Amino acid sequence: MTRPRMIVDCDPGQDDAIALVLAAEHADLVAITTVGGNAPLTDVTANALLTCQLFDIDVEVHAGAARPLVAAPRHAPEIHGVSGFEGPSLPEPERTVASHQGVSFLIETIRAEEGLWLVPIGPLTNIALALRQAPDIANRIAGISFMGGSATVGNHGPVSEFNILVDPEAASVVLASGVPMRMAGLDLTHQFVVDDELEADIRRLNDAEPNQGAVVLADLMANYLTFVGRIRGGERKGGLHDPCAVLAVTHPEVIEFTDRHVDVELNGSLTRGMTVVDQRGDGVGAEPNVAHGHTLDAGAARALVLDAIRRRGS
Ligand code: BDR
Ligand code: CA
Repeated sequence: MTRPRMIVDCDPGQDDAIALVLAAEHADLVAITTVGGNAPLTDVTANALLTCQLFDIDVEVHAGAARPLVAAPRHAPEIHGVSGFEGPSLPEPERTVASHQGVSFLIETIRAEEGLWLVPIGPLTNIALALRQAPDIANRIAGISFMGGSATVGNHGPVSEFNILVDPEAASVVLASGVPMRMAGLDLTHQFVVDDELEADIRRLNDAEPNQGAVVLADLMANYLTFVGRIRGGERKGGLHDPCAVLAVTHPEVIEFTDRHVDVELNGSLTRGMTVVDQRGDGVGAEPNVAHGHTLDAGAARALVLDAIRRRGS
């Protein structure tokens, strides 16, 4: 099978970092763009560069939008720490950002090469800006596989998921773009459980052969579990969200999808940022615009992630 060619648009974040490792292992990763999200843009860009350094990922990293289209910036220090990579002792940075023009980079790259996948795993700001500034790119993209939203409960509000809530206007632009889309929302990603056992399994990858990247990821995960535990009354358990959006392209057989119409709530005082997934079926409602991932083969996903960290780390 040919490896899909993709650009990952991210805001690392431990789960973004794991998604990058997975993409480097199983796709032709063309480049990485970053977007303000889990932490401010400068931090997440530094974290993306460090991930590349730790896992020998030789692609350019372009920094994109620092803030959402309309809303005030918001970050997730209570989940990922202020820097997005809180917890581990990190190596001295050796790599530098290729440009601060992530959106222009996306437009130029898509104009130069048809059939790329875009895998946004942070707020959708960069993708929306690119589609708005260059509508001609929409029909050159193979698809957009995004982590965001939910068909059920939210995580940064009763019904709102973080990536969509940070920039709902951007999500609205992307969902209306007509580009084929795959959605890894919380209802899918919560099936990929992060717990102490997964952290220990990642840490153990350093036992057989030195794997500094695995130790950093395990430390990040330990920190994430501590943060999540504080929010959830001591329960050290969360979802491994972002790798699911990569798997939706590299290993779609581990996810069951159903075509749905998905839109985003922009106005509700309680529901802003909610993705409304029309699950009525039977031809009722608007035409489907998204392949909604709803069921994950979690065992297979876990094995793929562990294997990628083992193979790429050193
Ligand atoms: C999403 O928000 C971020 O905290 C994670 O990196 C993921 O992309 C989950 O809601
Ligand atoms: Ca993310």
